[in-house]
Amino acid sequence: DKGNYRHFMLKEIHEQPIVVAQTLGSYLRAVEEQVALPAMDADLSRISRVVIVACGTASYVGLIGKYWIERFARIPVEVDVASEFRYRDPVLDPSMLGIVVSQSGETADTLAALRHMKSAGLTTAGIVNVPSSSMAREVDLLLPTHAGPEIGVASTKAFTCQLAVMASLATMLARLRGLLSAADEAEIVRHLGEAPAAINAALAHDADIEAIGRRIMGARDVLYLGRGADYPLAMEGALKLKEISYIHAEGYAAGEMKHGPIALIDEHVPLIVIAPSGPWFEKTISNMHEAAARGAQVILISDARGIADAGEGPIATIEMPEVHPLIAPIVYSVPVQLLAYHVAVAKGTDVDQPRNLAKSVTVE
Ligand code: F6R
Repeated sequence: DKGNYRHFMLKEIHEQPIVVAQTLGSYLRAVEEQVALPAMDADLSRISRVVIVACGTASYVGLIGKYWIERFARIPVEVDVASEFRYRDPVLDPSMLGIVVSQSGETADTLAALRHMKSAGLTTAGIVNVPSSSMAREVDLLLPTHAGPEIGVASTKAFTCQLAVMASLATMLARLRGLLSAADEAEIVRHLGEAPAAINAALAHDADIEAIGRRIMGARDVLYLGRGADYPLAMEGALKLKEISYIHAEGYAAGEMKHGPIALIDEHVPLIVIAPSGPWFEKTISNMHEAAARGAQVILISDARGIADAGEGPIATIEMPEVHPLIAPIVYSVPVQLLAYHVAVAKGTDVDQPRNLAKSVTVE
């Protein structure tokens, strides 16, 4: 049931404050200001490396997780798309933790990757939305997302819930390694706890985003830039736009733009710049200025401070609440999803059932 919403995708975007809160509710102990994971046999304090495997949107959760786990827990992380993982004959050993991320828990390549990890003796964990799925049953440590059923083919609420779990896992690994003081952990827990309200604040910009969507709907190509943990979100934005509006889009690490894609830039190319104020802001904004100087139609997604500091260049801005860099990828998912949604609606495509796509890809 879509309720009062025109599409399941829009309904699911708007459910995010609730489902992210529900998901965090099972990983955060608010009173103790600690993260908590479900009980498991394996000892996560001793893992040597992490490998994260997933497909599509879920693989971007893996890439963001790499930033978080390496930063907080100082454990090397590699991320692979599941269709490549097995066939490159990865170097694996039982001291590693293998993580799969999947909404459905049935994606054929990801399931095969999980089985490959298990046969190599890895401890496995799964960030999975469907509790009765094959992956949920087969992993050693099930880390459920509580997004509820996701009907729209384009993944939205599952993605932000997966990020919430990934952030909790990174925090736990950091604590187990002795790298996080109680005060630092309490601070992270507080910031994660702020995510649902910040998502709500982001949703309030729906009408501005709809107007921007109408401005860019005629584009043939759209580029997305981000840096650090917001770089995979640029790829997620591009994927979302491609799959439901059929506009060609690419997500790039902001600093990579001048190594090739800048050649594409002219006044017909919208450039979506994801740049919350924080450690990567200045550098990303200087990349934005390089593109604006070449005529790019820059749409800057930042907070009030960032928008003010960015100065001239953007043709439009989308203002987000000011948030801690840890939760920025969660909160900035919202404008990226809404932009794709509104462009698709303006173009009249079938938002919930885009052509050629299936909700769950159960063949290789
Ligand atoms: C994108 C999308 C797909 C899925 C991918 C993995 O919006 O929905 O890229 O993310 O097919 O599916 P799950 O998460 O079910 O393994």
